[in-house]
Amino acid sequence: MAERGRFITLEGGEGVGKSTNLERVAEWLEARGLEVVRTREPGGTPRAEAIRGLLLDPAQDEPLADDAELLLIFAARAQHLAERIRPALARGAWVLCDRFTDATFAYQGGGRGIEAARIAELEAFVQQGLAPDLTLLLDMPVAAAQRRLEGRLTTSGGVRDRFEQERRDFFEAVRRAYLARAEADPERIAVIDADAPLASVQARLEACLEQRVTPWL
Ligand SMILES: Nc1ncnc2c1ncn2[C@@H]1O[C@H](COP(=O)(O)OP(=O)(O)O)[C@@H](O)[C@H]1O
Ligand SMILES: [Mg+2]
Repeated sequence: MAERGRFITLEGGEGVGKSTNLERVAEWLEARGLEVVRTREPGGTPRAEAIRGLLLDPAQDEPLADDAELLLIFAARAQHLAERIRPALARGAWVLCDRFTDATFAYQGGGRGIEAARIAELEAFVQQGLAPDLTLLLDMPVAAAQRRLEGRLTTSGGVRDRFEQERRDFFEAVRRAYLARAEADPERIAVIDADAPLASVQARLEACLEQRVTPWL
């Protein structure tokens, strides 16, 4: 049987460049002969993407309760793990995921104010000990990331999803929660300064992969 593949996640607030850089990270891995599954959360399978639709829908007719939001995220994650992530890792593929449970601690924990211990209970229940081998946390000041997001919004019809509609202090809390997790777990979480031209961010990511992933190959 193939050795279990590795699980790598990309994290950070809105507009820091996760989606833009995911392909580059995937190509770096593929150039080293690895099979890479590119995916994202919430979502990653048809049913999990349907749950994503519920989470991001900005409809104002009925608020989404914080605990319902948290449970939907973990429901989508359970589906994604069962149908996509675990099978890929088991056959020896590497999984590269745009957001995972660190985002839940940052958004639902830091942003919404749900106690980290409650999120950790669901993490243990749903993940059964599975965690990313490496997390690349793209970090930059909220205001600068928001300016990038405005650029993206003008090219995507200008509709903000339920999270993008949050206020500045929400995103500041998200950023603080991400950085606190990185500080608590520097072995797993690498912080990449994302407040630079794309070519510089990509060079920083590649240097990080060289340092942290090359020893695994
Ligand atoms: N280093 C960078 N410098 C300037 N603009 C960037 C950079 N990285 C990404 N962008 C642009 O910023 C916007 C947000 O990037 P995106 O990858 O969608 O962020 P995320 O997925 O983290 O929300 C996009 O329009 C993207 O083209
Ligand atoms: Mg994105």
